[in-house]
Amino acid sequence: MPGSIALERRGDVALLRLDNPPVNGLSFAMRAALGERMVEVLADDSVAAVVVCGAGRMFCGGADIREFSAPPPPGAAHLPAILDDVEASPKPVVAAIHGVAAGGGMELALACHMRLAAPGTRLGLPEVTLGILPGAGGTQRMPRLIGVEAALDVIVGGKLHPVEKAVALGFADERVEGDLEETAVARARDLAASGAPLRRASQLTEHLEAARGRPEIFDEFRKKMAKRARGFDAPYACVDCVETALTLPYPEALKNERTVFQRLRASDQSAAQRHAFFAEREVAKIPDVPKDTPARPVASAAVVGCGTMGGGIAMSLANAGLPVTVLESSQEALDRGLATVRKNYAATVSKGRLSQAEMDARLARITPTLDYADLGAADIAVEAVFEEMPLKKEVFARLDRVCKPDAVLATNTSTLDVDAIAAATSRPEQVVGTHFFSPANVMRLMENVRGAHTSPETIATVMKLSKTLGKIGVLVGVCDGFVGNRMLYAYRRQADFLLEEGALPPQIDRVVYDFGMPMGPYQMNDLTGLDVSWRVRKAQAATRPAHLRYSPIADRVCEMGRYGQKTGAGWYRYEPGSRTPIPDPVIDQLIAGVSAELGIERRAVSDDEIVPRLFYPLVNEGAKILDEGLALRASDIDVIWMHGYGFPRYRGGPMFWADLVGLRTIYDTMSRLHDEHGEWLEPAPLLKRLADQGKGFADWAK
Ligand code: CAA
Ligand code: NAI
Repeated sequence: MPGSIALERRGDVALLRLDNPPVNGLSFAMRAALGERMVEVLADDSVAAVVVCGAGRMFCGGADIREFSAPPPPGAAHLPAILDDVEASPKPVVAAIHGVAAGGGMELALACHMRLAAPGTRLGLPEVTLGILPGAGGTQRMPRLIGVEAALDVIVGGKLHPVEKAVALGFADERVEGDLEETAVARARDLAASGAPLRRASQLTEHLEAARGRPEIFDEFRKKMAKRARGFDAPYACVDCVETALTLPYPEALKNERTVFQRLRASDQSAAQRHAFFAEREVAKIPDVPKDTPARPVASAAVVGCGTMGGGIAMSLANAGLPVTVLESSQEALDRGLATVRKNYAATVSKGRLSQAEMDARLARITPTLDYADLGAADIAVEAVFEEMPLKKEVFARLDRVCKPDAVLATNTSTLDVDAIAAATSRPEQVVGTHFFSPANVMRLMENVRGAHTSPETIATVMKLSKTLGKIGVLVGVCDGFVGNRMLYAYRRQADFLLEEGALPPQIDRVVYDFGMPMGPYQMNDLTGLDVSWRVRKAQAATRPAHLRYSPIADRVCEMGRYGQKTGAGWYRYEPGSRTPIPDPVIDQLIAGVSAELGIERRAVSDDEIVPRLFYPLVNEGAKILDEGLALRASDIDVIWMHGYGFPRYRGGPMFWADLVGLRTIYDTMSRLHDEHGEWLEPAPLLKRLADQGKGFADWAK
């Protein structure tokens, strides 16, 4: 029966089997059942020892995260107390772990007297990734078992580790090749028969003694994690709690862990990170492309164009074990593209993150060619040539002629109409956008763009491919900039207007960085290059509506030949060989000149007005995108922004953040900004509707 703990007998050993699909989550009901089962087996004189194991795919994925949004029900079973009872049991308790032991599931195992795990099992304490900490003794038992430094790595790192690593570190005792449960039963029986003292993690002192003389461990760790943990509360709370293993008696440290856990659980950050967890799983659910939609098998691929993106896409495919044929327009371009790929791999090897043998194997999967005939066998072809419609159409017409009939033809275009590209082929149902983010071999996001004729099978194929590549595919519709860049334009436009009104790039960049973004818009622009969007703006100049406000500042910067880091200067200047942006009075003068030219009297722009001015229009654009049906749900937009643009995970993405701010506040501010600054800032109808109804984007469903 789901949501229960079955009690099975193997002679004098009682087997407690967690059974709560999909991950045997420790819901309140499961915790209560665990407590009751322990009382039952302890009272039963015919039981000499206990084995805890899991039904189905895994041992236990931890607490049931879905229950975290509401306060615990009255009289709810208290997991730390139950685990203390498990540990205190005079009868040996052995954990038989298969699949996964995560979070509360791992903590249950830590409370047992022995932990055995099957090959392929992954174990760890990922609570930090949900904005909380291991709240059932994990911050106390783990350091006692494996040492303070290793425990900090496991708890703050939040990763699931392979069984071999868990055994090496000491939080699993043995990797069992044969029948896991039989072995666990035998070990439990032996422990009972031997009468030897049971190994209780909370009572181990050796590792704590070793760390006691080195209190600097904690400050050093805080320094080491500062960059990755910037803005997050939970990693620091984890370190603080592990530190109490040295400074407080066990019962008090446990109490403190509980208090901190409850504070974190109730925080906006944890709500945001839990939202992120579920959002990343929701993206795979596409109403008219059900799970059983047949995806075409992808065993080989082709990439057309081996520039910045094509090279990275080829690497991604090769990294996932797929053979890739890469086509370029000339031998010179091909050599240059492949040389960059080789250089990128070599850099990873020199950092010790890839072996030379693995680099060679990956490179061997990439076959260069100048001949379209070599692309005939590929299951998918990804086009990444220059962003020019006639060229894309020509490439697709040729791909259509040479690729096998069931091959998927994908474009990496970032701005062009996927439907117009599809029209150049005889198989528009097999044409789709796969919008990778730069650098394509690193960034996890893929916006998979559904054209008017793209078939469910084609969508299923690219969504599955995203997974194969270790990426997150989010399905979006066709529009200028798709979802991410379209929202980015809305944000960036306002940043430029703020420059005209009185701000300077360093101020805006600082406020945006402090908000939690990896960098502000101007540092980002210097990194990616100013010339790309300049070319697009020039191409669009003739059709730009005259009544809409347009800032010429970026064009003026480009006219000075300042394209960003690659030319040694952009919005900032750079010393040779350095990536450190240095504010430049030349830019300040240029901006002041534009303000004067436009008749705008410069004023002091306060830090406080920058976040609403930049991010509310971004959210507003997200609302339009939802209304237009270009994203399936608000949480999909959040995934795009967290994985494509580094929107801070502890804010849950822009749409979740907007719900926290309150759509009423955002709507009212947008209305005021619209009155002050005009058309670009008109509130989206959906924003108004939801604000009027007192709802959030989370409540919205098309
Ligand atoms: N609670 C509730 N639902 C969960 C869950 C959990 N702990 N873990 C996974 N799920 C759900 C997922 O949302 C998903 O649901 P849908 O199918 O409806 O989308 C389903 O279970 C399967 O999950 P995955 O697709 O992620 O399955 P997987 O096999 O790829 O991975 C896993 C399994 C490694 C357990 C992964 O789901 C995972 O990392 N889960 C979270 C683990 C975690 O963070 N545990 C700590 C919880 S907090 C805690 O335990 C606090 C404490 O101290 C008491
Ligand atoms: P790039 O200029 O670095 O590379 C384009 C490559 O295509 C060049 O190597 C060129 O030789 C090759 N090419 C041109 N014509 C060709 C042809 N007829 N046949 C074969 N190869 C040909 O450009 P980049 O940045 O890689 O962009 C490629 C595509 O990816 C564009 O559509 C762009 O909009 C899109 N994109 C770019 C991103 C970026 O950050 N650079 C991000 C996401 C998408």
